[in-house]
Amino acid sequence: MANDPFYKDHWINIDRDRLERYQRMFQWNPASSILYEPADIGPGHVVGDFGCGPGYTAIEIASWVGVDGHVHALDINSDFISQTRNNAMAAGTDDRISAHQCDGSRLPLPDASLDRLTTRNTLIYVDNAEHVIREFRRVLKAEGKVHAIEGDWPMMIVEPVPTETWAALVDAASHACRTPDIGRKLHGLMALAGFSEIDVQVVARPDTDGRLLPMIKNMAGYARDRGQMSNASIEEILSTIEQALVGRSYLALAPQFVVTATR
Ligand SMILES: C[S@@+](CC[C@H](N)C(=O)[O-])C[C@H]1O[C@@H](n2cnc3c(N)ncnc32)[C@H](O)[C@@H]1O
Repeated sequence: MANDPFYKDHWINIDRDRLERYQRMFQWNPASSILYEPADIGPGHVVGDFGCGPGYTAIEIASWVGVDGHVHALDINSDFISQTRNNAMAAGTDDRISAHQCDGSRLPLPDASLDRLTTRNTLIYVDNAEHVIREFRRVLKAEGKVHAIEGDWPMMIVEPVPTETWAALVDAASHACRTPDIGRKLHGLMALAGFSEIDVQVVARPDTDGRLLPMIKNMAGYARDRGQMSNASIEEILSTIEQALVGRSYLALAPQFVVTATR
């Protein structure tokens, strides 16, 4: 809608180029399996994946739940919902995946219908994370588990960009998120929603070869759109990073909070 804040609107309206980029960026990476281990997803489970993007994670989860399980893939963006259906068909798992468009304010699922609810890099964007986490609890069965993987932008470091300069870029880019520091808040939000056995792990895989560059460039783009920082300063940060990559003095860290809790 025209009046939606930027953090929401930039996911509802995605231009063709960005959609194509995301089809590549959100492919399933086998190295991510370890992040999902605490969710303990197994054969026969009914699992929700909130913020499913083009559906590659839902397709992977469909292989874990097997023919007796089911995956409900949920996303705010209508193109991602169509892509999820098409990608599931191409993977031969469309009988096990249902895709639903929603923004999290009301999940289109009955009470106590899921064994597991996973979400990755999505709660950072929702209007009201406390409310969405309560929705997660409503749709989970007794003993069901929620599993959230979220970053925390102010905790990110990019060496050799000076600390204050990087913090200024993060601040200028943060209008793209509703809760840029969601990672550190997950434990408290889950406790507030009534979850028990809340387990928090922080995973930070150092990037020395530019793996995080697409994320950094996205953040630079958001900062540019905001206009709070000059273009010249943003370009200087990007060029410092490019030179450091060549000179091998680059190291970036984007900690991910991996939080699992029982209904
Ligand atoms: C950074 S992407 C992550 C995609 C996927 N979970 C992954 O890790 O590859 C964020 C996803 O959340 C979706 N999203 C953003 N705001 C949302 C909301 N309020 N409700 C549901 N989905 C939302 C976006 O459309 C996008 O697919």
